[in-house]
Amino acid sequence: MTQLSTMKERIDRLLAEVDSIKAVSLDEVEQLRIKYLSKKGLVSVLFDDFKTVPSEKKREVGQILNELKNKAQLKLDELKSAFGSKEENQVSSLDPTRPVDHMEPGTRHPLSIVRNQIIEIFGRIGFTVAQGPEIEDDWHNFSALNFTADHPARDMQDTFFITEDSGILLRTHTSSVQIRTMETRKPPIRMIFPGRVFRNEAISARAHCIFHQVEGLYLDKHVSFADLKQTLIYFAKEMFGEQTKIRLRPSYFPFTEPSGEMDVSCNICGGTGCNICKYTGWVEILGCGMVDPHVLENCGIDSTVYTGFAFGMGIERITMLKYQIKDLRLFFENDVRFLRQFTGAK
Ligand code: DAH
Repeated sequence: MTQLSTMKERIDRLLAEVDSIKAVSLDEVEQLRIKYLSKKGLVSVLFDDFKTVPSEKKREVGQILNELKNKAQLKLDELKSAFGSKEENQVSSLDPTRPVDHMEPGTRHPLSIVRNQIIEIFGRIGFTVAQGPEIEDDWHNFSALNFTADHPARDMQDTFFITEDSGILLRTHTSSVQIRTMETRKPPIRMIFPGRVFRNEAISARAHCIFHQVEGLYLDKHVSFADLKQTLIYFAKEMFGEQTKIRLRPSYFPFTEPSGEMDVSCNICGGTGCNICKYTGWVEILGCGMVDPHVLENCGIDSTVYTGFAFGMGIERITMLKYQIKDLRLFFENDVRFLRQFTGAK
């Protein structure tokens, strides 16, 4: 009985002691750990003595003994973290005059460089930027843009569907952001929408299943095809140089009427013919047109009051032309020998 009460007394005393321990350095914390918790420490010794406690009392004593051990461990952990790790503690011994380690300057990805340039060029004539989701619904990617359920134009874009019923998909173009914008804003709207798009296409030097587009939309009273043409001439000259010529060919898109495709004179051969322009002297860079009145109505915009133009261009195509890159796969390989060549470009 006496033995038992001294055991309990010793535990109680240590509990109180552990409660009030303090340390002024990490070294002191270590000393305390040795004092209490090492193999021969005060707490561990109690565990040895615990073997002599009569079995009917083992439960009661074991409980407070465990409590003591946990408390000591917790207290020491707290003290230790208050001092931080050893390395952090040695900060004062750092030599601040030592030269810094050599750092390789990073580069912007060529697609980012060109995207930023496009944003900047349109920014100068009042176009602001918005973005939309990459996972889209059928309405924004197709239906609102006049692609009805059985419209053959849906076949122009090989779609990655996410749901069995084709209701949710990876957007195939940034034209979906036109719809989102017209649904939520009132004209005048003068905006561009850069972003990533997805199509189920085999990867080759000229195509990839992931690529990037910039969509443009200008909606107001009295916007005409002449405004579209002038805007595109301005863009082409700013992007590829003053000598650049454009060519507008009639085309078809369900959401524009009339529709066109724009070519720029090939800046690789200067128009004389090379394998990039397939010996035509022209390279197609975008689709465009006047927004179909039905599309405006789909978005709750009065087509008797407002007209607008839209265009959509591929950033990869423009970057290839600008930097004379002949294989689109290079954009996605993350090969530093390729990327490093853009050091210093804005
Ligand atoms: N969305 C079309 C595509 O990906 C490109 C396009 C054509 C966008 C005409 C437009 C447009 O805004 O007016 O092929």
